[in-house]
Amino acid sequence: MRKKIVAGNWKMNLDYNEGLSLFSEIINMFKDEATGKQQAVICSPFIHLHSLAQMARGYNNVAVGAQNAHQAESGAYTGETSAKMIKSVGAAYVILGHSERRQYFGESNELLAKKTDTALKNDLKPIFCIGETLQEREANQHFDIIKSQLAEGVFHLAETEFAKLVIAYEPVWAIGTGVTASSEQAQEIHAFIRKEIAAKYNQQVADSTTILYGGSCNPKNAPELFAQPDIDGGLIGGASLKSRDFIDIVKVFN
Ligand code: PGA
Repeated sequence: MRKKIVAGNWKMNLDYNEGLSLFSEIINMFKDEATGKQQAVICSPFIHLHSLAQMARGYNNVAVGAQNAHQAESGAYTGETSAKMIKSVGAAYVILGHSERRQYFGESNELLAKKTDTALKNDLKPIFCIGETLQEREANQHFDIIKSQLAEGVFHLAETEFAKLVIAYEPVWAIGTGVTASSEQAQEIHAFIRKEIAAKYNQQVADSTTILYGGSCNPKNAPELFAQPDIDGGLIGGASLKSRDFIDIVKVFN
């Protein structure tokens, strides 16, 4: 059985103290209300990571992650943070290829392939994001876009390395817009992603890959989305900034 994961993406929100108090609410609610059939992951800004990782100790099903990592191991890259540094503070995951990074920081599939290699080398689990823009969907190019993001971003990996990834399908038109993909639209793409993985690797790898949906996911729409056979959880932006909402989404898997 593949892992069910609900991951929060705090983006560039919350100062240090705000982040710690939100996380403390989240882990307390998780302890009291979640069955642990699911994994909760909070991807915070770098400044929170070390403290959150300490707070998450003793919670088997709560992990923390970063939202980006540099492709180089170390060096003269002012302002950047390496995968090794992220790992050293106790983070387990790293989001790579989020559409905001692709759009605002020009991250290409080629660059993301390098970032994925470096993250894996440092024992971080990438949550690798893919998804089409509204324009691409309207031009009926969504399947081609997904196919090339996979082929150029992660399909260079050996099977054992690929097996460490989590994939997140996030249609760009649904991120932060309040417009969610319908469960049928999301399921259609998730099934397509799984089929692509099976064709590249094999059915067993495809069946054990966790594929998350992201884009205006909230406690209301999560039950229907997560009931789809190929949707294994969510990558949650806005709703992860409210402990009650985030935990209610986590609890869909109770
Ligand atoms: P959203 O963001 O839930 O606020 O739409 C999702 C994401 O960007 O990961």
